[in-house]
Formats: sequence, structure tokens, C-alpha cells
Amino acid sequence: MSRQPDWLDNAVFYEIYPQSFKDTNSDGIGDIQGIIEKLDYIRDLGCTAIWINPCFESPFGDAGYDVSDYCKVAPRYGTNEDLKRLFNEAHKRGMHILLDLVPGHTSVEHPWFKQSMKAEKNEFTDRYVWTDSIWEEPTGYGSLRGISDRDGSCAVNFFTHQPALNYGYYKPEKSWQQSMDSEGATATREALKDIMRFWLSMGCDGFRVDMAGSLVKLDEDGKGTVKLWQNIREFLDKEFPDAAMVSEWGEPDKSLQGGFHMDFLLHFGPSHYNDLFRCSEPYFEGRGDVSEFVKKYIESYERSQRKGLICIPSGNHDMDRLAKWIHGDKRKIAFAFLLSMPGAPFIYYGDEIGMNYVKGLTSVEGGYGRTGSRTPMQWDNSVNAGFSTAPKEMLYIRQDESPDRPTVQAQMNDENSLRSEVKKLIAVRQANKALQSKGDIEFIYAEKNAYPLAYLRSADNEKILVILNPSDNDVSFECKLIPTETIYSFGGEAAIRDGRISVPADFAGYYKV
Ligand code: NOJ
Ligand code: CA
Repeated sequence: MSRQPDWLDNAVFYEIYPQSFKDTNSDGIGDIQGIIEKLDYIRDLGCTAIWINPCFESPFGDAGYDVSDYCKVAPRYGTNEDLKRLFNEAHKRGMHILLDLVPGHTSVEHPWFKQSMKAEKNEFTDRYVWTDSIWEEPTGYGSLRGISDRDGSCAVNFFTHQPALNYGYYKPEKSWQQSMDSEGATATREALKDIMRFWLSMGCDGFRVDMAGSLVKLDEDGKGTVKLWQNIREFLDKEFPDAAMVSEWGEPDKSLQGGFHMDFLLHFGPSHYNDLFRCSEPYFEGRGDVSEFVKKYIESYERSQRKGLICIPSGNHDMDRLAKWIHGDKRKIAFAFLLSMPGAPFIYYGDEIGMNYVKGLTSVEGGYGRTGSRTPMQWDNSVNAGFSTAPKEMLYIRQDESPDRPTVQAQMNDENSLRSEVKKLIAVRQANKALQSKGDIEFIYAEKNAYPLAYLRSADNEKILVILNPSDNDVSFECKLIPTETIYSFGGEAAIRDGRISVPADFAGYYKV
């Protein structure tokens, strides 16, 4: 397992969807200067690091996940100089910035793709995954065909305007399938290193990597893709040993083997993450089941050598807002969970104030159902909730217009608000090593269809028992551990009697044992 930058040990991340965070030039779209202006806000909340969704030049057919120039900030967000300033301003505050690296595909407008579509052979002919006949489609993938002079179909990764870059096939079978060490695949890999080198030399602290597990084609067990990332890891170890790497992969055992420091729990795939937050009966809404999640979590935890490098996000730009499914004080208990688990927690902008999923929006920038989770941040009660001074009609995406929409300002002035609780929880995490990224976890009580959830976190000699009861009932469980000191509690106190711990409804507590 690769060496981990020290700052990841107690990092709490804040995810910024740049177009919706803060607009400083009144064009209705958030920008880099807006992020700079809000760094103190993020630091005040207690977050120490930021992940910014793609901010590179793009036609924005998939919100920027369709890059047309990897080394240029999208003009609507500012310039490369602005981004460099952001890195510096973050570092001055002891904070770190991860950019979003999209290695799997580009926009159809990327100059590489334009060259690759040409009939004549050139440097970029093999930059993407092509068949050699328009009548043959790449097995297992969608394809883009009929828009090139070149005879062939190009594999796509996500939307059909996102052609797949060529990192080779794990076991090429057809004449047009290239191997991982073919000239074309090698050139793509080296081009990826150049992009990383470009931003890391400018002061960026690492990357969140989009669809990291999908680069090598027809690679069912991920062996080829792991090997590819190990190659990138060698390069990083040599040139940028302090760069942090977090993958969107959802299989920590593979991703950590590939040299990533942390992997995300994803809302799709086998993690059962959304049993907790987004399903017909979410555990944190008080009437669900946590046991399947815990079973899976332990499996991944064991397979990744109990390193605890699995990141659990409060949400992200691809899923419903937490607040759509979890209500009232139960949100605080959900955060008491998120902020006491191993791995670095990620807070999606606005989740700290319980921003809502805005229903009924027409898709913006390829968001479709995701659009409602991407609306502009609500800072205060001024025009456009302080997001932008542009006329309302100019906002690139409609804002939550409900009269009781939460705002940062109101919640900062209310010690009982969700934001105040989140801030408190982050501070407690940061003061106790056992609660941080690499502290060990052991589940004490996580029964089927039952409450509470209890687990023990530990590091060195420190042991902290976490008890969470988002249900509407007082509950108790058998427990041999004896709480000695409360380091955090919400909703009352735990009582101990005859080897059982009882806790009230809507309760969260952390205890030294
Ligand atoms: C995952 C990203 O999070 C999502 O927003 C994007 O649409 C796809 N990858 C494609 O890049
Ligand atoms: Ca702007």
C-alpha cells in the first residue's frame, strides 16, 4: 500500500460543484474567485480539504465531465492563474485542494478526438477505442458512429458524446482491440501523466478520479486497470510523492492496490450505502436496516487490510440530496455517523445546511434527475440567496425558491441548526484520533432491522464508543463496554444498567471507554 500524505489522516473534505457555489462577476455561474472568497467559510466549518468538480474547458454536455482541454480552466470559471491563486490561498489556510481528473473519456470537441476521427493516420488515431468498421460496435460498450471520416465506431463511456480513451484491452481478441502496452495505449497513459504533472506542478494537492475502475476495457476483475494505476503510482512516487489520490471506483481492495489512498463508497454497486440514506426506508430516517451495509463494509474493510480508507460522502452531484430522504434532527444523527467513520468524510456543498433536492427542474448541462441536487448555494437572504447578483433569470440553473429554504447565514446564527451541529461534530473528530481516517473500527451492535447502531473506534490507547439511534423509540442493547466520559452527545444521554446501554429516541453519542 502506498505511503499516504499525512494530511489525509484527519482530512474532512468539502465537495464544491463550482458552477453552483458562488458567482463573483454576476454572470449567473459560480467561479474560482467565488471559491476563494468562501474558503474562510469552509475552514470555519472545520473542513480541511476540498474536491472541486471538473473546472476545465468543456462544452458542458455533462457538467464538465466532458473535457475539451485538460490544461485550461473553463473561461466561465476564470483563468489558470485564478486556480493557482486558489491553491495558494488554500495552502495559506492549511487546506488542500483536489481537482477532478476525468481519465476515461473526453468531449467530442477535444482536439484529440477531432484528429482521431480523421481518415488519415495521425498521432491521435489510437488515442480512443475504435473498431475498424462502422458496422462493428465495440462489445460491451455504447458507441459513437457515423460522424467521422474514419471507418469505425468509437466506444463511449457514459453519455454518447463522451468517447472512451484508449488504455487498451486486458485480453485483446479482435484485430482492432489494442493491448495495454500497445503504442496507442501507452501514449494515452503518458498523456494522462502530463495532465497530472501540469496541475500538480501548479500547486494542486491531488485528484479525485472519475470512473477510475473503468479504464482498461473488458477487464472484468479489474486486473488490467489496477496495473495501469500502479504504473501511475510509480510516476507519482517519483515526481509527486505528496499527491493525494481518491478514486471513484467503489471497490477499495482494488483501488488501494492500484495505489489510490482512498476509495469512495458509491451509491450504485454493492455497497448498500443507500440503505442508510436514500431508499424507501432509510436507516437514518428511523425505520430501516443497517445490517447489510455493515456486512458489506466489513468485507471491504478486511479486504483493504483494515486500513479504513473508504470515504463515505454525505451526498454528491450524482445523487439525491440527503435532505430529500432524511428529515429534522435525524439529519444530525446521519452526520454523527458520517463524521465518526473511518476514511475521510466528504460533505457535499449545502448538505451542511440541509439544502433540498429541488423537484421539477428541466435538465441543465446533462444533469437530468441529478439537476435538483446541483442548485446554487444558499448563503443568505439577499438576492438569489447571496449566490449571485445577476438578475434571477440569468442564473444558469434555477434556485430552490421555497420560502423556508435554509441559508448559511441563518444557520450560523443558530446554535441548534444543522450547520452548528456539523461544525461541532467535525471539531470533535479533529480532537480525537480514534475518530479519524485511520482509526480502527469494530461494530458492537448492528442487528437486522434494529436500533441503535453502535461501533467502537480506536487508535493507540484511545477508544471511543459511538451510539446512534435515529429511530423514534428509546432502545437498548447489550454492551460490555463501559462509557467513562461523554465527548459528544445529542438528544440526551445514554444510561447503563445490568450490562445494557439504553439511549433515547433521536440520539447520538460518542463516549470514551
Ligand atoms: C461520474 C461523475 O461523478 C458523473 O457526474 C459523470 O456524469 C460521470 N462520471 C461521467 O464522467
Ligand atoms: Ca461567474
